[in-house]
Amino acid sequence: MAARVQPLTKRPASKRSVWSALASDYNKVSKLHLHQLFAGDPQRGERMAVEAVGLYLDYSKNRVTDETLRLLLRLADESGLRERIDAMFSGEKINITEKRAVLHVALRAPRDASILVDGKNVVPEVHSVLDKMADFSNRVRIGAWKGHTGKQIRNVINIGIGGSDLGPVMAYEALKHYSERAMNFRFVSNIDGTDFAEAVRGLDPAETLFIISSKTFTTLETMTNARTARSWSLAGLGNDETSVAKHFVAVSTNAAEVAKFGIDTANMFVFWDWVGGRYSMDSAIGLSTMVAIGPENFRSMLNGFHQMDEHFRTAPFEANLPVLMGLLGVWYNDFFGAQTAAVLPYEQYLKRFPAYLQQLTMESNGKHVTLSGKEVTRDTGPIYWGEPGTNGQHSFYQLIHQGTRLIPCDFIAFAKPLNPLQRHHDLLLANVFAQTEALAFGKTPEQVKAEGTPDWLVPHRVFEGNRPSNTILAEQLTPETLGKLVALYEHSVFTQGVVWNIDSFDQWGVELGKVLAQRIISELESPAEPILNHDSSTNTLVRRYRKLKEQQ
Ligand code: F6P
Repeated sequence: MAARVQPLTKRPASKRSVWSALASDYNKVSKLHLHQLFAGDPQRGERMAVEAVGLYLDYSKNRVTDETLRLLLRLADESGLRERIDAMFSGEKINITEKRAVLHVALRAPRDASILVDGKNVVPEVHSVLDKMADFSNRVRIGAWKGHTGKQIRNVINIGIGGSDLGPVMAYEALKHYSERAMNFRFVSNIDGTDFAEAVRGLDPAETLFIISSKTFTTLETMTNARTARSWSLAGLGNDETSVAKHFVAVSTNAAEVAKFGIDTANMFVFWDWVGGRYSMDSAIGLSTMVAIGPENFRSMLNGFHQMDEHFRTAPFEANLPVLMGLLGVWYNDFFGAQTAAVLPYEQYLKRFPAYLQQLTMESNGKHVTLSGKEVTRDTGPIYWGEPGTNGQHSFYQLIHQGTRLIPCDFIAFAKPLNPLQRHHDLLLANVFAQTEALAFGKTPEQVKAEGTPDWLVPHRVFEGNRPSNTILAEQLTPETLGKLVALYEHSVFTQGVVWNIDSFDQWGVELGKVLAQRIISELESPAEPILNHDSSTNTLVRRYRKLKEQQ
């Protein structure tokens, strides 16, 4: 079924005019230094900041003028962002290549909300799954759900990959402070056997519960790990098949495959095809998160997501956090030619946040054709990367400060620490503020000379500055704040996808490798020498691997 939202080919003329206006603006703004922009406007740091739903975004240290912002907002308007937001929230099939609605926002809608997909309100079903998850999580947490031998479950292992892993791992790490410390939570994703072997090391199968998380329940990595888990569990439980019911639950959209695998569908938590894998950490895919932090904290995370959803849906674009961040990203990506963007959380618990964002941003916006299948005329999604501060400062920040590339950075910090130890937090926050200041304003040759630096050393010690950043400051990392933060990036990715006129919700780019791997598996495993019809490089690698393997 065709989406009601028309591909933006309907609006090429006006869109082109704003792009060319932005290109002229870039010619002016790229010659300006942030220190001039700040000197010319003493209120800039207060003016170019927005606070919404408890997140404060300071975007003043970006290489933009009021005119740039005006044009970027016009770009959003002319790209039809308002209509596309409405289309997403009302359940239209905006994922046009998969003919699916995109309704992660329904996962966090309040119980009394109504969101229709094909004429059916999906919110009651969302809450019924949440209730089932809460009941299960409580039973596991208090020890009412026992293992096959009657022992309490102490270890929960989530097996999944991509969106069925990165969200759960990131959320567990981010919210570890709120987690049940008497239990262990581990995550297996890689098909590399080491991942599984290390995850179960030292664990007692009688105390171990596996959550097999897979939207499709056909993903090679997950199914391979799930079968290995089944063998490991059965081997430790007297090979009694009835133990599976106590040690395996599934999270999926595919009941038939779950049953085929041997998990009772009574122990299955469902979600729906209108939830993309990378947008699913707040669906049943978050079951391990809920067991770890408890249903109340999970609901408070959903509430945080919902607050940001409502902000995105209703706030005027000039005061809309995801819209502003998304547009600034477009500005650097398409006008400054920035190839990457760094996300730098100054919060150790967010150590997996950049990895999570990599799938969210790059699987969503790494696209080369528009909604109508034409080659894009602008660069799309940048490469996202990052590490928590201050570790990154002693590693790659050198390049951000003095290298030849422009890397827009998002700094994320919290006013109140979860582990207040002596002066640690003030020192941490001093580093955040110092980094954004140094990046923006740098240090001139005159300043370096005035410090008594010998002439030959001066160029090495100069910081040209003018390196842009956003700072996101919140009160404290709580489940609610995490929900807001994730939704902020989800909607910022959406904003960019609308501007680029691409489908941010499909992921055809991961298919080819999967298909080719299937073909190669039999060539690696066949006892007889296979006839190979690949290119000469792949053929040689296959032969070499087979030979090395035989020598073991
Ligand atoms: O990597 C491709 C992908 O389809 C992701 O989008 C998804 O999150 C991941 O694989 C896992 O898929 P599934 O949950 O179906 O196992």
